[in-house]
Parts: sequence; C-alpha cells; structure tokens
Amino acid sequence: EKGGYPHFMLKEIYEQPKTIMDCIRGRINVEGNNVVLSGVIDNKGKFINASRIIIVACGTSWHAGLIGEHLIEEFCRIPVEVEYASEFRYRDPVITDTDIVIAISQSGETADTLAAVELAKSKGAFIYGICNAVGSSIARATDSGSYIHVGPEIGVASTKAFTGQVTVLSMLALTIAREKGTITKEKFESMVKHLQELPEKLKKVLEKTDDIKELSKIFTYAHNFIYLGRGYNYPAALEGALKLKEISYIHAEGYPAAEMKHGPIALIDNEMPVVAIATTDRIYEKTISNIQEIKARKGKVIAIVTEGDTLVCNIADYCIEVPETVEEYAPIVTSVPLQLLAYFIAVNKCRDVDQPRNLAKSVTVE
Ligand code: M6R
Repeated sequence: EKGGYPHFMLKEIYEQPKTIMDCIRGRINVEGNNVVLSGVIDNKGKFINASRIIIVACGTSWHAGLIGEHLIEEFCRIPVEVEYASEFRYRDPVITDTDIVIAISQSGETADTLAAVELAKSKGAFIYGICNAVGSSIARATDSGSYIHVGPEIGVASTKAFTGQVTVLSMLALTIAREKGTITKEKFESMVKHLQELPEKLKKVLEKTDDIKELSKIFTYAHNFIYLGRGYNYPAALEGALKLKEISYIHAEGYPAAEMKHGPIALIDNEMPVVAIATTDRIYEKTISNIQEIKARKGKVIAIVTEGDTLVCNIADYCIEVPETVEEYAPIVTSVPLQLLAYFIAVNKCRDVDQPRNLAKSVTVE
C-alpha cells in the first residue's frame, strides 16, 4: 500500500502534484477566472462582516495558519490572529460573535484544537473548519468548512496535508476578497492562474529529488540546523525545521531571517548548516543581506531559490532551484524540497521515518 515507495512519507511527498489538483478541482471554474469555496459563499455575510479572524491549530497546521494570516490580511483586509490551540483554550481569550474562528486540523481529532473550537463556540463565534479527515470530530463540531481533499495521510510527519491546507487558505482568502471587493481583478486572475499551475510546478520540484538526496549525505551527522525565511516563506522555514526535528531527531530552529541579528546569529560558525529560503519576492534583497551576514560568520548555507537565480547562488554553499510563482504561493513550492531534505537525512540516519519516536499521528490527549 506504499505504492512501491519505501515509506509513506515519500509516497505522500510525491503525491503532492495530484493532491493539490484534487484540492482545487471543482473549486475553480472552467474558464479559470473564478474561485468558489462553497463553505465561504454559503456564509458570505459572516465573512464580509467579520471584525476579526482567529486561526487555531497545532504543529504543522499552525504553520499553515501563519500563511493564512498573511493571505487573509493581504487580500481581505480582515485582522487575523493565529494561536496555538493549546494556549488559546487556557487563557480566557476575548472572543465575540463578530469573530470567525478557523480551526485547521489534518486529522480533525487533535484534542487541543477541538477544545479551542468548543470554547470559541460557547462565546458565540462562527467556526470554520479546514480538515482532511472527512466526518472527523473537528469537522463535525464546526459551523461550516472546507475539506482539503488530499487523501489519507499516514506518515506521522505531515507533508501533503500542509500544502493542501495552504491551498485551501489561498482559495478562502481569494473567495472572501472577491466577495468583499478588496482585491483587483488583475491580481485575482493572476492568483487563479498561478494556482492552476502549481501541480506542474511541484512535479518540477520533485525532479530535484536525486540532487537533494546527494546533498543530504553531507549533513547526516550535523547536530543542529537553522532554517530562515521572510514574509510568506517564514512559516515555510518553521515547517522545514519541524520536519527535520521530528523525523531525524536533529535539533533545528526556524527563524525569520532578520531576527538573526537579535541573538541567534551568535550560534553561527563553520559547523552550522543554515537553510535559507530566498525565492524572489518583495523582500528578496533584504533576505540576501541576511544570507551575507551568515556567510560572514562562516555558516554553511543551503539556499532555496527561484529558477535562474544567480545572486543568492553566488553566495550560498549549495543551491536548490524551484519554479517561479507568485510570492503568496512560494511556501507551497519551497516546503517540498525541505520535506525531501528532512526525509533523506532521516533515512541516512536509519530513523523510523513514518513512525518517529515519541510521536503519534493524531494527538488526542491534551
Ligand atoms: O491533525 P492535526 O493537523 O490537528 O495535527 C496537528 C499536529 O499534531 C501535527 O501537524 C504535527 O505537528 C505533525 N506531526 C507535524 O508533522
């Protein structure tokens, strides 16, 4: 049932061109110029009038939520907060009936996320779910929602669910923005076009597998890793670090690149691998200066860059190119090489990739 792959995780990484397609199917019209997420359309008054959106989730789903925050604030101009469900539920948060709470959960069974949903519901908020498991507890507890439709995810390390969650959050933001009139026609159409191109672009990323496998050998015995990104790629950096931690047991931390100078740069020496996500976007130049700061302290830089990049590749020690897309979809494209890097390092270390120690696929205890 692993479809010829040695692990579910690798199979699920490879499924992503198809799962993104399944996720957008039927939600983009045939002309390719409209996005219809029915859960949003059915409740459009609520979304248009929402004073605030609070996203609650854990782990990888929380990382997807951080990207959702950028998307919704950029396109819909609604203030968004992203909270760890486990913190939210115990801190007596201010929630009103004009708030919308979006719960993101692959399994739909995470105890803390479910409890956050119940709490928000009791305060009168409208609850929207983004789940994978159909009919799961969280899906049933919400007022409305959208499934990500990526199929069962077996590997404990979440991969295709993450890219599916970000895809749904993109469609959600686009649907609200269109209804609210907060996005230009040009930007909307460009976003839809780029969304449709993602499956093909992910196929291109997967062609890099052999290169990433080779690269992974250099880092099998590293004790620490730092992952850097800015803007839309900052959550991708956090997610890359989480993947490495959970399946290889190597200590890794994700940081917004510009925060390095506020402390963590003290960690950099010639034994510190730094994965820098530096695809072309509005803060590309700034990210380059952050990479230069790492190189000046002799850090080993593995850069994830846009195809054809020369500037970053001239500075970095190793470069992995990914196809160009709009910056809003960058984390969908840049998270895949990071999944592969974590996977191969864990395999090199003979780790139990699909069932890492101390972890369960769904965390049904608090
Ligand atoms: O099923 P959920 O999305 O609610 O799970 C949340 C986290 O437990 C989950 O994303 C966890 O962090 C993964 N193992 C990460 O790969």
